[in-house]
Amino acid sequence: METSDMKQIQWFPGHMAKTRRLITANLKLVDAVVEIVDARTPFSSRNPEMDRLTKGKPRLVLLNKSDLADDRATQKWINYFRNSGAEALAVDCKSGKGLKSVIPAIRTKVLAELMEKRERSGMAGAPVRLMIVGIPNVGKSSLINKLAGGKRAKVEDRPGVTRTKQWVKLDNSTELLDMPGVLWPKFEDQEAALRLAFTGAISDDILDTEALAMKLLKYLAEEYPQSLSERYKIEFSAEDTGIGLLEKVGKKRGMMLSGGEINTERAAITVIDEFRAGKLGRITLELPDEKEK
Ligand code: G4P
Repeated sequence: METSDMKQIQWFPGHMAKTRRLITANLKLVDAVVEIVDARTPFSSRNPEMDRLTKGKPRLVLLNKSDLADDRATQKWINYFRNSGAEALAVDCKSGKGLKSVIPAIRTKVLAELMEKRERSGMAGAPVRLMIVGIPNVGKSSLINKLAGGKRAKVEDRPGVTRTKQWVKLDNSTELLDMPGVLWPKFEDQEAALRLAFTGAISDDILDTEALAMKLLKYLAEEYPQSLSERYKIEFSAEDTGIGLLEKVGKKRGMMLSGGEINTERAAITVIDEFRAGKLGRITLELPDEKEK
């Protein structure tokens, strides 16, 4: 993907420093860290400092929104995280799929050693305490609500509104530290930023919608040609440019301007919206072996 024409994204250094301090300060209160990533962008949707910040803590990586991701790719990512020493599971916090395995995986895999130790010392009943981390929109509130059985109301991360940390009881033996603070994704990497823009994880204005849709169409034409041709009933080849593909979509959908030109802006909005809604099928935007690119 050509990213030289992208604007640099501006983030808020104050938030980052505050969140970094919060994580470090609260880490000693928990037994394990649950890190939520987007299954479509498991690398780009991770906070780049997470490994360093939570070093030494047992970790469960949840590949959320797996309903929108390619199953084969998700399995590769699960293997990747397991090979790097963290337990990993695919979940869908919208439908709840996969969530039944979360607490058992924490007790029998992530914290197996601690559980045994507690058993031996007669402390088996002590609650397991967890910290949940993830970039905005990755599904933290959805996960907490689903695991807590809908008892907890959603609290927005609004700038200027201070939340204090609170413990949320997930069941009789599990407590979750719900912390304020904004975690940032891998924004310094423009390839990663582009993928996050495709999924809507970061603001669209790093590129205009047409440029974004063109880049997405090129990716789809290369990696998921069947999904693209089935959704829009278009034929294309490797020679098609981004604008060429966008025009094919617009033309097929009858999106014309009064002068007979194709309304590529409308076509772009359609492509982006339909991709985000999963209408193009289940698509993953990066694989573990290309993550160093
Ligand atoms: P956050 O706390 O980490 O910021 O994320 P939150 O739970 O608010 O989720 C952000 C959006 O992602 C929500 O959509 C939520 O429904 C959606 N979402 C969370 N998990 C999944 C999942 O596994 N699959 C899919 N397809 N979507 C998921 P929204 O449009 O902001 O709200 P709404 O659609 O729930 O009204």
